[in-house]
Amino acid sequence: MADGDNEVDVLILGAGSGGYACALRAAQLGLSVALVEQSKLGGTCLHVGCIPTKALLHAAEIADATREAESFGVLAKYDGVDAAGVLAYADGVVSRLFKGLTGLVKSRGIRVVEGRGTLTGSHEVTVEGADGTVTLTGRNVVLATGSTPRLIPGIEIDGTRVLTSDDALRLDRVPRSAIVLGGGVIGCEFASVWRSFGTEVTIVEALPRLLPPEDAASSAALERAFRKRGITSRTGTSVTGVTTSDEDGGGVVVTLSDDTELRADVLLVAVGRGPRTEGLGYEEQGVTLDRGFVTVDDHCRTGVDGVWAVGDIVPGLQLAHRGFQQGIYVAEQIGGLDPRPIDERGIPRVTYSRPEVASVGLTEEQAKEQYGDDGVATLTYDLAGNGRSQILRTQGFVKLVREVDGPVVGVHLVGERVGELIGEAQLVYGWEAHPDDVAPLVHAHPTQHEALGEAFLALAGKPLHTHS
Ligand code: NAI
Repeated sequence: MADGDNEVDVLILGAGSGGYACALRAAQLGLSVALVEQSKLGGTCLHVGCIPTKALLHAAEIADATREAESFGVLAKYDGVDAAGVLAYADGVVSRLFKGLTGLVKSRGIRVVEGRGTLTGSHEVTVEGADGTVTLTGRNVVLATGSTPRLIPGIEIDGTRVLTSDDALRLDRVPRSAIVLGGGVIGCEFASVWRSFGTEVTIVEALPRLLPPEDAASSAALERAFRKRGITSRTGTSVTGVTTSDEDGGGVVVTLSDDTELRADVLLVAVGRGPRTEGLGYEEQGVTLDRGFVTVDDHCRTGVDGVWAVGDIVPGLQLAHRGFQQGIYVAEQIGGLDPRPIDERGIPRVTYSRPEVASVGLTEEQAKEQYGDDGVATLTYDLAGNGRSQILRTQGFVKLVREVDGPVVGVHLVGERVGELIGEAQLVYGWEAHPDDVAPLVHAHPTQHEALGEAFLALAGKPLHTHS
């Protein structure tokens, strides 16, 4: 669309994963699109989420590999971590992707309007930017304003000792010790990075296990692996007080629900992310919110005709790839296509810690709730039997959950690099494949994919490298 044209087919508020994917697909379908963004194209995922944290995790892997090099017969000396160097590396990755995305959006003829947008009419967004105010209208409006770190009343974030993940990403030093509040995805990933960089790490998690939504076996394996790496997990524990101290080098003192005290250089608060929906005019224009999240139907439609919502503001998994998919889904509906609804259970989940935890579909517990205790069969294949995993020296497993005489309904993976296996797992889940359907498929040797192949074989009743 031309810059002066303030009426479009699709007006999108927020250019994160959900918003920009919607914009790209809508433009591809020949619709005119405006994308409103107060910060940078790419949103949380690109700038303070998925991409920079995975860069940190890769640097962490290199630190570990260097430290352990000699045990592989390679002579290398680990001299520590240059935090500024790690940040520069992560920034380089982000800026290359940002440049690519900016070019892509431009090449599709999408108008990007910089500034803070507010819903001022049911189909109208007013944007206050550096160059003044502009009002845009859209035949369709897509709300995609994302999320921010959840805070805990009484715990004040100061950005240097008490941190959110945004601060932790920009930390210009490696802390000697860290307390991580929240054993969810962010907590486990940062715990993993910091430990690889030499930090003493304690995770405090209110629920009885790390990564509570994962299969219990995955949580137990991660906790065990973390323990071996020297990461302490205090599960079933919450924090009752936090004070910062200027004495002894200045750190944080955290009081726990069992009346013990922990001290560390920094405290990372990673207790979830809340939707960014306040003060944006949503409710005023008739959009229904529930505890801050936008209420939508299966088609991502809000209760207001022609107003849609995607990504982290919609209840469910707060994952970039879910946002992408919802954005595309909405664009295709607006474009008059009839896309397949998104199966939330089929959305793959990966925690990129060392070891990685990945899953798709139902946990064993959820499957038993759905099909009954006798209606579910599981199979666990230990990575000890997988050549590639032995080469990598990783421990872990593939766990399959199937409906008895029915398809595979859940796949759970623990081990280094197993996040890369989730693609195959999700196809099996998504196609509702029976173990017998996939057992004949040949897996390359030696790969970690073979572990999945072995598990399918075993579940189909013809185990190869397992004791039956
Ligand atoms: P989360 O919901 O994954 O985990 C938060 C954890 O904090 C939960 O286990 C919860 O029980 C615990 N908790 C809450 N209040 C607590 C308290 N007062 N004391 C102790 N523990 C408490 O949220 P997280 O890790 O902050 O991540 C936010 C979102 O970002 C998630 O939806 C996550 O999926 C997404 N994300 C995804 C990544 C990935 O896909 N690899 C990476 C990082 C974030």
